[in-house]
Amino acid sequence: MRNVDEDSITQIVLARQAQAQDPRLKQVMTSVVQHLHAFARDVELTEEEWFKGIQFLTDVGHITDDKRQEFILLSDTLGLSMLVTALNNRKPEGCTEATVFGPFFVEHAPHYENGEDVANGAKGEPCFVSGRVTGLTGEPIPNAHIEVWQADSDGFYDVQYQGEEGSKGRGSLRSLEDGSFHFRSITAESYPIPHDGPVGRMLKALGRHPWRPAHLHFMIEAPGYERLITHVFRDGDRYLDSDAVFGVRSSLIADWRRHEPGVAPDGSRVETSFSTLSFTFILNREAATEGGDKR
Ligand SMILES: [Fe+2]
Repeated sequence: MRNVDEDSITQIVLARQAQAQDPRLKQVMTSVVQHLHAFARDVELTEEEWFKGIQFLTDVGHITDDKRQEFILLSDTLGLSMLVTALNNRKPEGCTEATVFGPFFVEHAPHYENGEDVANGAKGEPCFVSGRVTGLTGEPIPNAHIEVWQADSDGFYDVQYQGEEGSKGRGSLRSLEDGSFHFRSITAESYPIPHDGPVGRMLKALGRHPWRPAHLHFMIEAPGYERLITHVFRDGDRYLDSDAVFGVRSSLIADWRRHEPGVAPDGSRVETSFSTLSFTFILNREAATEGGDKR
């Protein structure tokens, strides 16, 4: 094909990839090409702007490594992560809503027994978290695998500290026979997403701030139920209505109750002020694999 021009190029590119073996790949790439071309036409993209975009993506790649995931930050701040989460987590009313996964989950975090301190030395005011894992009809879900992770009071996750080994402010535990669980940690505080890289520069240029409202991350899995990836947000946080990654759901906001120094829920004596949080996670049943009703 010769003499490709601005009017014919989209159809010519699509024809060139029409023989793709994988029908889903073909569908996705057809849409990508159509939308990219439409975008360039829409804004009459200049060559200089196109190269600036290439440089930006190159910078995003260069700063990314096994600890820093700038592509997820880019997806999060453009609202793409939350859109994909919403498209893939339509649940019956009453189930706990899902929200973004974020870039700070770590596989194989240490396992804790109920009542233990997952902070493991992370800085912050003590927080005693309790909750339940149930199904939509209130049935308790015992032995659910619960992963929790959070930032410290300086707004950093353990993996953001250069040269430090060991998990702090993250761990896994199992729900008890009645679906309940409890652990000690630190009080969540609002924090800015890493903004010393290309995504931070993009936010600044767009007149946006990088802050996220205080939250605890949870991932909960139990046989027969859909996996739940979500946060619990701290009520009263100033960034609840302007989360840099668009993850807030009203149903996920909970009251972190403040307490003066004294006896904690686990019976221990705490010499500083502390907080308590309680939250019930309601999981959706997995769709039946064959035949019959989904629920
Ligand atoms: Fe987070």
